[in-house]
Amino acid sequence: MSKTYEQKQTILQVENLSVAYNGKTIIQDINFTERDTVRPGMQQGQIIAVLGRSGRGKSTLFRTLTGLEKPTTGQVLIPDLEKPVANGIQPAKKVSEGDVGFVDQKYTLFRHKTVWQSLFFAMRRSGLTDIEKKEKILQHLSDWGLTQCRDQYPVFLSGGQRQRTAILEQLLSSGYYMVLDEPFSGLDIGNIQSVKKAFQWINASHELHTIIFSTHDIELAVELADSIYVLGYPKDAEGVSGTAGTILKHYDLKSMGLAWNESFTGDHLECVKEIKEVMLAS
Ligand SMILES: Nc1ncnc2c1ncn2[C@@H]1O[C@H](COP(=O)(O)OP(=O)(O)OP(=O)(O)O)[C@@H](O)[C@H]1O
Ligand SMILES: [Mg+2]
Repeated sequence: MSKTYEQKQTILQVENLSVAYNGKTIIQDINFTERDTVRPGMQQGQIIAVLGRSGRGKSTLFRTLTGLEKPTTGQVLIPDLEKPVANGIQPAKKVSEGDVGFVDQKYTLFRHKTVWQSLFFAMRRSGLTDIEKKEKILQHLSDWGLTQCRDQYPVFLSGGQRQRTAILEQLLSSGYYMVLDEPFSGLDIGNIQSVKKAFQWINASHELHTIIFSTHDIELAVELADSIYVLGYPKDAEGVSGTAGTILKHYDLKSMGLAWNESFTGDHLECVKEIKEVMLAS
């Protein structure tokens, strides 16, 4: 399969972003741009992974990307799809709460909705009929091992069941952007496969679909993502470590020839090794 691609319109632009809590800077100088990747004859979405050791600010960055947290400096821009294209460019707007689907690290669910009700609600903008929605949900519940708990409320779910419900809910709610904070942590091997398949399906089903996820599993990030950011504490010229997270390294797996591979090769492993070293030094 050809891996030719082009980079088109900007779909996410993060400019000079920093976040401080009570005067303490948690992340700073975050700058990056992601573009719509276009491959001839294919629907190609984007999968972006954020890696970094604990406390380096992944969740803080994610809350800012989704508009839940106001940046102390800088901004997060996404295309404003409600405005007409002017001179070939889609105007941008600051992200606000609700523009981007979010599965937080605690896998928050509606307390007063059962699994079934949550998933049904998630599909309210899908354009499907109720019967189609029901069929789709039944299939997903079965694929994701959730059939038995379809009528349960969140408090009665196991950690993994909550997590899968929260992820499914976002995947079904059909926005272009999905930010998932550690969607793979603590899942059993079968559930990891289901979530991986869902990522690939989402990625291939719309040009603008953009999944941004964090993980501590570097192999998984290299396997799934086409773009990886490593967050960590920078070191100054004397080798003294900073205390606010920033992007230490960006791996564009597309230009490295590592994206969209059927198999995990020696080159992928090399990339994993390098990322580990960057992280250990941060
Ligand atoms: N609401 C808050 N108020 C004050 N400090 C916070 C708040 N949220 C996070 N922090 C601090 O910001 C830093 C980064 O936390 P964050 O949760 O973003 O890290 P992380 O990279 O997601 O870590 P992990 O891998 O453990 O999930 C930590 O030192 C944390 O204590
Ligand atoms: Mg976190």
